[in-house]
Amino acid sequence: MAQAVSGLVAVYPGTFDPVTNGHLDLVQRCAPLVDRLVVSVLANETKSPLFSTEERVGMLQEVLREFPNVEIDFFDGLLIDYARRKQARLILRGIRAISDYEYELQMALMNRELAPDAETIFMLPAVEYTFVSSRLVKEVCRLGGDVSNLVPPIVLAKLRERLQAGS
Ligand code: PNS
Repeated sequence: MAQAVSGLVAVYPGTFDPVTNGHLDLVQRCAPLVDRLVVSVLANETKSPLFSTEERVGMLQEVLREFPNVEIDFFDGLLIDYARRKQARLILRGIRAISDYEYELQMALMNRELAPDAETIFMLPAVEYTFVSSRLVKEVCRLGGDVSNLVPPIVLAKLRERLQAGS
């Protein structure tokens, strides 16, 4: 049986392939508002991520180590089942632009249909990160562009190693 967890718990789910400064900005905003924030990597490899689940978890652990109430984890299956296991009432998602809204609205309402007691909360990243996505960061880095302002240094090193090796 799951151990009782006290306080307000939020889950921040995502692919995090890899974590960007936009994700970190969201964690910085949410962590002070809750007792525990679980940043959780979707382990579903059918999305063909650049980094394995272990690598994505490892990068998050390194860049978020200074946050005492942030836990890094991974999950597969339905998010709401995972959130229930974590005793999380809140699901955190970031919205960068109106274009994110439709997809996020669908997911939030489906999750509400499945688990009416869980609430999705949306937060906005800092304006300077509103154009940043893991997908674009990978594309730009693969083509030799500079993404050093958009990801933490350890992520930059891993991206370069993976995408620019031999070039
Ligand atoms: O970073 P992403 O790729 O936008 O994150 C998407 C994620 C992981 C939040 C979403 O794909 C998800 O929750 N997947 C788990 C499976 C699930 O619960 N699907 C139904 C969601 S309505």
